[in-house]
Amino acid sequence: MKTTAKVIILDFGGQYTQLIARRVRELKVYCEIMPYNVSYAELRAAAPGALILSGASASVYAQGAPRCDIRFYELAVPVLGICYGMQLMAADLGGIVQEGLYQEYGKTNLYVRENSELLAGVDEQFTAWMSHGDQVVAAPPGFTVIAGSDNTAIAAMAEPKRKFFGLQFHPEVIHTPQGKLILSNFLSRICSFSGDWTMENFVESSAAVIRGMPGPTEKVVCGLSGGVDSAVAAALVHRAIGDRLVCIFVDHGLLRKGEKDAVIDAFRRNLNMNLIAVDAGGEFLNLLRGVVDPEEKRKIIGNHFIRVFEREAEKLGEVSYLVQGTLYPDVIESGTAVAAVIKSHHNVGGLPEDMALKLIEPLKYLFKDEVRQLGLELGLPEEIIWRHPFPGPGLAVRVLGEVTPEKVAVLQEADAIIIEEIKAAGLYREIWQAFAVLPDVRSVGVKGDRRNYAHTIVLRAVTSHDGMTADWYPIPYAVLGRISSRLVNEIPQVNRFVYDLTSKPPATIEWE
Ligand code: XMP
Repeated sequence: MKTTAKVIILDFGGQYTQLIARRVRELKVYCEIMPYNVSYAELRAAAPGALILSGASASVYAQGAPRCDIRFYELAVPVLGICYGMQLMAADLGGIVQEGLYQEYGKTNLYVRENSELLAGVDEQFTAWMSHGDQVVAAPPGFTVIAGSDNTAIAAMAEPKRKFFGLQFHPEVIHTPQGKLILSNFLSRICSFSGDWTMENFVESSAAVIRGMPGPTEKVVCGLSGGVDSAVAAALVHRAIGDRLVCIFVDHGLLRKGEKDAVIDAFRRNLNMNLIAVDAGGEFLNLLRGVVDPEEKRKIIGNHFIRVFEREAEKLGEVSYLVQGTLYPDVIESGTAVAAVIKSHHNVGGLPEDMALKLIEPLKYLFKDEVRQLGLELGLPEEIIWRHPFPGPGLAVRVLGEVTPEKVAVLQEADAIIIEEIKAAGLYREIWQAFAVLPDVRSVGVKGDRRNYAHTIVLRAVTSHDGMTADWYPIPYAVLGRISSRLVNEIPQVNRFVYDLTSKPPATIEWE
């Protein structure tokens, strides 16, 4: 990937490392995260224009504390240490770090002590977010103290000659209102980066790289799920190599209402892409007949999905590359010192790992919001860009108990009504995921003076950042009322509506 400047953020395990990366990119400077113990040779080969040392929960002198190769300071590039990163810098360069008398957590008043490029334009007294027990009590030789707080004499330090800077507070969090200005000072005043990393540039530079990957006769295949990641990855690869990319979209019969047509429309009609849509609903529903165990359902769908995909891919002749919509957080989670929290079942509905295909992962340095921006830049419709996440096994994990065509049809209708009302109320983008669930219960109701025994629809609506934890979303009563009356009036098989008010944990987002 061609970029004019690159910041490397060394990850010591702090909770805000990804946030630092996002802030740097918001300032239009490209950055990558590397583990703190990356080798000197590897770091040098990455040719960083600057280094940022992130936070960590450790104490620098503690046994096993994450330390980096001290030759990193000899790369002759600006270095910014944040929180633990500043303490490490102090310890490495001849300063002293000690356990503070007072720990500082939360919003703190800071006072500028000396003029510096880093704090240029920042108020004499400013609020910053602190989260530390240890503190630097003696700055290394050559450093000056540029800010302090009531409890921390050295809250920011600078060595302008070598362009080394340390901040005890977190400029990347929103609770440090002038944090963005401070980061911008580092990137533009100190490092002289021009801030030219835009999506337009990204499209150009990554299309050039992708073009050079497959040989002139080699074919590239991509599995489309309807989700935003695979859609954007496919659109980007299509921009690079056109019709040599073939997309396969497996309709397992467990999609949301109208989803298949939306995908076909977006890719075949609008983007003119080579798309094979496989109608495999019957096969999947046959395999699911009589199956009630959630794990078994997931396995059946996952395995058969791979089989159908392979069957279609074989028809294409020799395929050598597979496009995958892997995002940066997945790459970081599996590749750094930080304990990875991996959702084991979440590859269900993903593609085979043993197809012996080489991978093109054009989004692997992007965050989700950047992927959305990129999708818009590539001309994908908003409907696909903003669509709520959807599990690989589809509605099978939302129809509790046995999956039958009748139940799937009821759920599709219910889901469509719910989403329509949520969109009409302007809540769709505020909510991470909203959907209908069909529990395996029927209850007694009365419609038009007649007793009936019909389905219940559950509404699940949550907010979340990454799907790992979630909170139920407080949908206004008026909207719930509209959903309720439409569900029982428009779907004859439904006579009851309930709302799921559970967070994750303890409940998961999906019901199965
Ligand atoms: P849970 O139910 O574990 O879901 O709280 C967290 C997020 O992951 C989605 N999910 C899946 N996504 N394949 C996927 O691609 C799957 O098998 C799968 N299962 C759950 C779920 O919709 C939520 O966004």
